[in-house]
Parts: sequence; structure tokens; C-alpha cells
Amino acid sequence: MDNISVLYNTEEIACAVKKLGSEISNDYKGGKLLVVSVLKGSVVFVADLIRCIDSADVRLTFIRAKSYEGCCSSGNVSILNTEEISQLDMSEYDVLVAEDILDTGLTLDVVKKYLLSLGAKSVKIAAFMDKPSRRVNNVKADYSCFEIEDRFVVGYGLDYNEKYRHLPYVGEVIL
Ligand code: IMP
Ligand code: MG
Repeated sequence: MDNISVLYNTEEIACAVKKLGSEISNDYKGGKLLVVSVLKGSVVFVADLIRCIDSADVRLTFIRAKSYEGCCSSGNVSILNTEEISQLDMSEYDVLVAEDILDTGLTLDVVKKYLLSLGAKSVKIAAFMDKPSRRVNNVKADYSCFEIEDRFVVGYGLDYNEKYRHLPYVGEVIL
């Protein structure tokens, strides 16, 4: 395994996710909330987050956002795995998109527009991590656990070439 320098440990992550869950619970009291988890990076985050939301009627679904040019986000994004979501009456739901990290914003821009086009009442973004300095558009994280500088992080669902998603902490790979 590569050398990984820990940025946020398990306790810090649990505390931040719990705080985010309380904020979300406050904002969606009594509502019908559809949490849309973007595969695969957000699965660890979303599993913890939904267990910290206690005030709304929560439903969970998954979509995949596939970016086409090589490794870097291009804005050329396809939304896949839409069988379940396309059968819902989206006008009943406030939507919360759960994403691992908001980087350029190109992926979430497409995801957000797609969900609005399905007729969702509202669409907000919960990004586990946010790199605001990398943004190329005006997409914002409505909720985020950690804001970081421009560095490449892994763990807690985030990968480097499909490795390290299982790490229970967030770290930076030292190459
Ligand atoms: P965006 O479209 O540039 O915002 O990129 C979003 C996607 O790029 C995320 O969902 C991640 O899969 C990936 N990504 C961006 N930064 C990182 C990082 O630091 N570590 C791991 N994946 C990242
Ligand atoms: Mg990824």
C-alpha cells in the first residue's frame, strides 16, 4: 500500500457527519426527502449520513455519473442507473444529492439539472468534501463536512484508481 498521510480520522469524520445530519434534519422537518447517492464514491458517506437524519421521511436511491474523457472531469457526463428514479413521482420529493467530493463542479452541475428535469420539488447538494478553489462553475455545496485545498484525497469512499475506498479515514496519498 502507498504511504498515506491522514487528514481526518474516524472520530473527526463521525463528528462532522453527525453535525451535518442534524443540520439537514432541521431543514427538512416533516418533509419527504429523497437522498440520491452518486455511485460509487458516496456510498460510505451516505450510509452514515442517512442514519443521522431523524426528522424527515427518507427514501434512498442510487445513480451513477459517468464522465467520459480519461481520468479528469470533462463535463461530458452521462447519468446511468436511472431505472428506479425514473419511476418515481419526483414532484413529491425534496432531493438531497449525496456526493463524495465536489471538485470542478462539472459532474454535479449535470446531476442537478437532470434531477430538476425530472420535476423534483427542490435539489440540494450534500458533498462529503468540497474543494471550492477548483470550481469552474457556480455549483455550490449546500452541505459539506470538510472544505479542503486543492489536494487529492482518498478513503471513506474516495478512490485513487479504485483503491482505498475502504479506508475508515481520509488521507492524502504520498507518491
Ligand atoms: P467534478 O466533476 O470535477 O466535481 O469531479 C467529481 C468527481 O471526481 C468526484 O465525484 C470524485 O469521484 C472525483 N474526484 C475529485 N477529486 C477527488 C479527490 O481528491 N479524490 C478522489 N476522487 C476525486
Ligand atoms: Mg471517483
